[in-house]
Amino acid sequence: MELTLREEEIFKEIDRTRIPGHVAMIMDGNGRWARERGLPRSAGHRQGVETVREVVRFSNHLGIKVLTLFAFSTENWRRPPQEIDFLMSLPEQYLQSELPELVRKNVRVKLMGDPERLPAKVKRAIAKGLDATAGNSGMILNFALNYGARMEIVRAVQAVLEDLQKGKIRPAISEKSFAAYLYTAGLPDPDLLIRTGGEFRISNFLLWQLAYSELWFTPVYWPDFGRVHLLQAIRDFQQRERRFGRIYPEQR
Ligand code: IPE
Ligand code: IPE
Ligand code: MG
Repeated sequence: MELTLREEEIFKEIDRTRIPGHVAMIMDGNGRWARERGLPRSAGHRQGVETVREVVRFSNHLGIKVLTLFAFSTENWRRPPQEIDFLMSLPEQYLQSELPELVRKNVRVKLMGDPERLPAKVKRAIAKGLDATAGNSGMILNFALNYGARMEIVRAVQAVLEDLQKGKIRPAISEKSFAAYLYTAGLPDPDLLIRTGGEFRISNFLLWQLAYSELWFTPVYWPDFGRVHLLQAIRDFQQRERRFGRIYPEQR
């Protein structure tokens, strides 16, 4: 992959053996990107899909193992119907053009969120993506679509109650056994969360899983987010001290 001089410069400062395994992204700022150009919000979302293509390719190239992208939240249904319609056309559009490459590059597509309320065409496109990549063993590309962390947790509690009633489990639960009921079952927690678009909030994303993730915020709007920013985020991540509540041995 051909890097620009600027990208190459940051790339050199990165330890290739310590690439964050799971990177999660809140892709925000499409609307403002469009407004600043006098364009409709849909133009920002369309450009945002280009960023998704680029970020997926580059993440895979860097050796990221799990990439989780927040594409549509349970709260985004509060937007005007035309905008929702447009957003719901994007998964199909993205997968239609990218699926062959994802298959070829051994990427495995996954869905996080409640598919119930998604339009049939989105369900179909996603099912096709899941199916075509089910046997792949490379990077996991996790799309959070109609995802909300509180809904995820409540859904997990509901499933625990049902398993209990069926006698499948004893009335005892641990952090580990609970996590198996979440959409992210079997996946490591995110090492790094990136939020574009300048807001300093989580917006109901991965509340359980982000407990010890490193957070990285940028004012850059999602359509302007590029390889250089991902490299910066990884470089900053590698300079952080992840203590998980401990102190350093030399301080003992
Ligand atoms: C992110 O961009 C896309 C989604 C949340 C679906 P926004 O549409 O939220 O853009 P802003 O935040 O209004 O600029
Ligand atoms: C978060 O962005 C959700 C997604 C990126 C899909 P929002 O634009 O919905 O977040 P808020 O409303 O500003 O918190
Ligand atoms: Mg937003």
